[in-house]
Amino acid sequence: MKKYIINGGNSLYGEVDIESSKNGLLPILAGTILTEEQCVIHKLPDFLDIKNMINILKHTGMKCTYYGDTIIIDGANANTSELGIELSSPLRSSIYALGAFLGRFKKAKICYPGGCDIGLRPIDLHLRGLKDLGVKIIEQHGNIYCDGSNMKGGKVFLDFPSVGATVNIMLAGVLTEGTTTIYNCAKEPEIVDLQKFLNAMGAKIRGAGSSTISIKGVNKLHKVEWTPIGDRIVAGTYMIACAMCGGKVVLKNAIYEHNQYLINLLMRAGCNVVVKNSNIIVECTKRTKSIQKIETMPYPAFPTDLQPQLMALECISSGNSIIVENLYETRFKHVPELLKMGANIIVKNQTAFISGVDKLYGAEVKASDLRAGAGLILAGLCAKGYTTVNSVEHILRGYENIDKKLQALNADIKLIDE
Ligand code: EPZ
Repeated sequence: MKKYIINGGNSLYGEVDIESSKNGLLPILAGTILTEEQCVIHKLPDFLDIKNMINILKHTGMKCTYYGDTIIIDGANANTSELGIELSSPLRSSIYALGAFLGRFKKAKICYPGGCDIGLRPIDLHLRGLKDLGVKIIEQHGNIYCDGSNMKGGKVFLDFPSVGATVNIMLAGVLTEGTTTIYNCAKEPEIVDLQKFLNAMGAKIRGAGSSTISIKGVNKLHKVEWTPIGDRIVAGTYMIACAMCGGKVVLKNAIYEHNQYLINLLMRAGCNVVVKNSNIIVECTKRTKSIQKIETMPYPAFPTDLQPQLMALECISSGNSIIVENLYETRFKHVPELLKMGANIIVKNQTAFISGVDKLYGAEVKASDLRAGAGLILAGLCAKGYTTVNSVEHILRGYENIDKKLQALNADIKLIDE
């Protein structure tokens, strides 16, 4: 059982290199299924969700060879369009195999995906979108059988700008005859990076970053060499850490525009954030002020994936704040843990009311999911005394060496393996 032991109270100083975006890389890795040629991907981060996605590629018959943090993926011998429960259930992004299999093989059989326990997370929008491209779908006994032999470009209207549904329809549409248009699509930077990646392989996609994406089907994709974007949620986590602990942190490989909403909030709260030589520098010298009210929404608004971390900050800011979680029904599981540390939070349905306290106190807490775990680490970093964060396997799914990176910033945190 792994756990983090944190002795809180140190200010943070120094540089941190932000790893490649988990949620950007997962669709890109699935996208490599679409070509028989080699894909070279640099700056591959070392965490579990990426390893699980690579296991899916290997199962598909793709040859994966590592050179340090570069991976060469060779799809010449890919030979299956089926995915069982043991590879589907460890991660939500296993659902991307559906779009990729349909793109390459025009058929797929997969199971429902797993992932963080933060809400219902249906895949109805994915399936409806694929049906709009002519895919015949049968859902039976937990399996999804898809026949794409008559697929052709079509118009897809998403009821909600779902990231996953946008990715799946892009993956399914690239090698499909005709033009596919996705209306009300997700605008996240990870979608823009996927468009750039697929276009570098010869796809004809435009519009990513806006609410309409247009995909002109091509016959074939070719080899590519790629370095993914830095992870905006990881970058945001370190920025909030600095706001909570005080100090000065330089973020390398982070993109200012991708975190603009958070940066504005931090500046309003009393931090100083500047960009210098393409690094983001966060400085915080006094107690932060509460942000008053924030709602999680699709990009470019405030991301749900930073909600637990922001809540940790609000717990120790001066004043009252309200956080509304609009995306997931059960993404407040960090609240009872923060209460153990002395926070003052009341939750009513999807809304948390927070009164800032002068200090949090170390306690034994449990990470219920990836981002909740990150929020608890941040709370531990600024708390008085020792905090133990249990169930860190969730955190290891999406943060690369967070203990070592925080240690390099002067934090007292250890990963213990018992
Ligand atoms: C992606 O999940 C991210 N995961 C999530 O990050 C992130 O929280 C989410 O986007 C929102 O930004 C990956 O990229 C791997 P959605 P995804 O489809 O694609 C509802 C993290 O911590 N919905 O945009 O699953 C859904 O229930 C993770 O890194 C449907 O109703 O998110 C949710 O309320 C957690 N039907 C909302 O839409 C569908 O078919 C947004 O989901 C699909 C989604």
